[in-house]
Amino acid sequence: MHGLFTRKSVADCEQDIAERGGLKRSLTKWHLTALGVGATIGAGIFATTGTAIVGDAYRPGAGPAIILSFVLTAVACGFAALCYAEFAAMVPIAGSAYTYAYASLGEFVAWIIGWDLIIEYAVGNIGVAIGWSGHFRELIEYFGIHLPAWLATDYRSASDAAAAVAGGATEAGVLYLASAITNAPHLGSVPIIFNLPAFLAVMAITAVLVKGVKESADSNNVMVLLKVGLILFFIAVGAFLIKPSNWTDPVQGGFMPNGFAGVGAGAAIIFFSYIGFDAVSTAAEEAKDPARDMPFGIIMSLVICTVLYIALSAVMTGIAPWKMLGTAEPMLTALEHSGGSPVLLNVSRFIIALGAVIAMFSVLLVFQLGQPRIFMSMSRDGLLPPFLAKLHPRFKTPYVGTILTGLFVATFAATANIAEVVDLTNIGTLFAFVLVSLGVIVLRYKEPERPRPFRVPWVPFTPLVSVVACFYLMYQLPCITWRRFSWWLLAGLVIYFLYGAFHSRLRNPNGPAPFKLLWIPLVGVAAAAALLHYVVFASC
Ligand code: ALA
Repeated sequence: MHGLFTRKSVADCEQDIAERGGLKRSLTKWHLTALGVGATIGAGIFATTGTAIVGDAYRPGAGPAIILSFVLTAVACGFAALCYAEFAAMVPIAGSAYTYAYASLGEFVAWIIGWDLIIEYAVGNIGVAIGWSGHFRELIEYFGIHLPAWLATDYRSASDAAAAVAGGATEAGVLYLASAITNAPHLGSVPIIFNLPAFLAVMAITAVLVKGVKESADSNNVMVLLKVGLILFFIAVGAFLIKPSNWTDPVQGGFMPNGFAGVGAGAAIIFFSYIGFDAVSTAAEEAKDPARDMPFGIIMSLVICTVLYIALSAVMTGIAPWKMLGTAEPMLTALEHSGGSPVLLNVSRFIIALGAVIAMFSVLLVFQLGQPRIFMSMSRDGLLPPFLAKLHPRFKTPYVGTILTGLFVATFAATANIAEVVDLTNIGTLFAFVLVSLGVIVLRYKEPERPRPFRVPWVPFTPLVSVVACFYLMYQLPCITWRRFSWWLLAGLVIYFLYGAFHSRLRNPNGPAPFKLLWIPLVGVAAAAALLHYVVFASC
């Protein structure tokens, strides 16, 4: 147990970079901003907003007050962004939250964060792939290609839709999903239902990433212009179709049909659409002037996305009755119910479907690229097996980690339900934000003299507000999400006490320590598991 909280000093982190040879410093503050916007705008805004507006079996919808949900989440992310900015300027090293935790809170917490980041990156990408698939299906319809529902969704979505149809639902999207249950081929009595486009998209990206992509700031800039342009296009087209009564109609429950409960629940869902601004921190080693430009890139990308999201959500709920919007393609659905000219709407729907497919593909790429690199950092530190840091002899990419990540993401993208995946991603990422915020306070106390080019104002007050705001959003997530997240963390603890504790380079500088079963922590984990299962989560 000794040395569980050993910190990897910032100087050690810098030494690591010097040994590896640094990356080329070519990114300006606007490149970094574009990187953040590029990683942020994706499935969250295009695919999950519908559930946040209408609600689901676990929670009420926000209705038109989704606009307030976007403001609320932006404020929570804003406090966390300040904390990320302080770290990114002070420890300009690529590992992001994992590295910050190693430098501030010690190895054990760093491991927890690294393990937790799998949820943000890999599990998050499962959600993005599913969102991508929905829009891709819409897009190919324009070319006359009709995908049967059993090849384009998951079992849970299909059976929920079938239940809704049995209860009288008649919307085209619901009927389509429900058809998966009736039309699917069967293996014995089990219907075969899986999301083929989501699976293929992830595998295609994996193949590209094994060969290596030239991450070019210029191509990212083009992608970002396209995404921002797409959202501005939707706002411009929609602005002429707004009927203010859609925001206030008392028959529909008014502006805030489910009160603050709906706004809070919506905020916790659309948090997914903000994830990504923190990914700017992974480019710290390539920033021209990290001390000045990292805080700018992180905060500016959050500001840009916030403004776009608020305007977009106002338009979306202004052009159609909010109760209609509970689909996986809410922008397209909103246009469908907006009552505009059919030709304009048809063209707009095509443009949005195409743009969304490209936009989400670029998010997939960023996170699918990021995950194996986080594995690589952890593997170099000895917390994960060495094969995850192994580079391909020819392509020089971390190919083993890339392929494993690809298989994991693709398999779940083919079978999982987007709402469940988004909830899990959100709780995991919010938890990472909490630890980074606490890390700022700890490092201020432990290394007060260290130069901080960017300082979070009013420490410890601001990071503590960030912690409270993140917990508030976590609290809004369903019990089943907390249960899944707890199991994930406990599994991570077991792995650490069976592997990382013995192989950590920091704790075992002379090579791996001989293995022995660490009874005390393992019994502790088992006790925590029993407590959670039988007491805390007994009713969910
Ligand atoms: N924020 C990213 C998205 O919405 C994860 O796709």
